[in-house]
Amino acid sequence: MSSSFGTALRVSVFGQSHGAAVGALVEGLPAGFAPDLDALRAFVARRSPGRFPWDTRRQETDAPRIVSGLNAHGATCGAPLCILVENADTRSADYGNLRFVPRPGHADYPAWMKWKGENDIFGGGHFSARVMAPLTAAGGIALQILEKAGIRIAAHLLEVDGIADAPFTVRDSSPAGLAALAAEMDALADGREFPVIDDDAGERMKERILAAQAELDSVGGICECVATGLPVGAGSPLFDSLESQLARVLFGIPAVKGIEFGAGFDAARMRGSAHNDPYEIRGGAVMTKTDNAGGILGGLSTGMPLRLALAFKPISSIGREQDSVDLVALEPAKLTVHGRHDVCAAVRAVPIVEAACALVLLDALLQDGMIEV
Ligand SMILES: Cc1cc2nc3c(=O)[nH]c(=O)nc-3n(C[C@H](O)[C@H](O)[C@H](O)COP(=O)(O)O)c2cc1C
Repeated sequence: MSSSFGTALRVSVFGQSHGAAVGALVEGLPAGFAPDLDALRAFVARRSPGRFPWDTRRQETDAPRIVSGLNAHGATCGAPLCILVENADTRSADYGNLRFVPRPGHADYPAWMKWKGENDIFGGGHFSARVMAPLTAAGGIALQILEKAGIRIAAHLLEVDGIADAPFTVRDSSPAGLAALAAEMDALADGREFPVIDDDAGERMKERILAAQAELDSVGGICECVATGLPVGAGSPLFDSLESQLARVLFGIPAVKGIEFGAGFDAARMRGSAHNDPYEIRGGAVMTKTDNAGGILGGLSTGMPLRLALAFKPISSIGREQDSVDLVALEPAKLTVHGRHDVCAAVRAVPIVEAACALVLLDALLQDGMIEV
């Protein structure tokens, strides 16, 4: 079992949804970086529930507490950095009926089999997106380190229940295209409450989520993420390719079922003449006119914007009666899920995606000695 990742930057997450706390341990952070803790708290709060009427009603402040890894001046000191996020509002009684009757679509059944019924079901245990709160905090620090080095990361909701936002301007990497992308990233960084580029699309997404909630149902969505300012050549060929490093961690975000880089699955429907990104010299630097590669070739960064998109499945814990089984009696059972659940994971996942990408990219740059703090 592995709740850890990374090579030069090693990240482990721990805790369960209804335990005392969830946390992250980060080893390998460069020494001498003083994180802006107010900015970090604001970043982590974007993942917290309670901002939208369809979020879980669970009330958590998610204030990250850094218990080791900083010196007296508040800078990273080389020791492992430990972040704790306390679980304050647990209501375990809501999960009583799940003890022997697994939720369709959740981890309950395979976890029961794997751990012989000893798995912690309360709030989803270690499978819960609560574990993403300290990961978001750790990634928030990585984001600040990257930003200081001129590397920016931003994500938004590309789609919710079939309603599409304007995509990032990534396929066109002409000077005008790059300027448009920078403006889109600026707008999202400007504290936009609902993370979309096109506010009208955002309103329609909200209506769809509320409609699903009223029908005791849930919806899926797609998050699109870009990173700009990366140097050329970060990553590795083959199995430690930048795509592999990112995918390994991003698939660890609960409810992620698919990932694409650059033109992604569209690439399969293109001709080489349309998919290849032609080179040109701009201001003495090698650039490409388009970016179907999504900033990665041969597992290495090209220096052009890195683009990926993640498919999130609909939340499995829905209020409708569903068919399940009693795992002890081995008989059919009807299940109605109680408790406080989100309706759309993709919305609260946006900062988690940014944080996870930041940790992986910082690790890749540290592995290659390509970043100074
Ligand atoms: C931000 C976020 C919030 C989530 N909230 C819930 C929730 O309230 N209820 C639920 O059943 N699943 C929720 N999930 C998804 C489950 O954690 C996930 O589906 C489950 O652990 C099984 O893992 P899998 O979907 O990756 O197979 C959430 C996921 C994310 C990313």
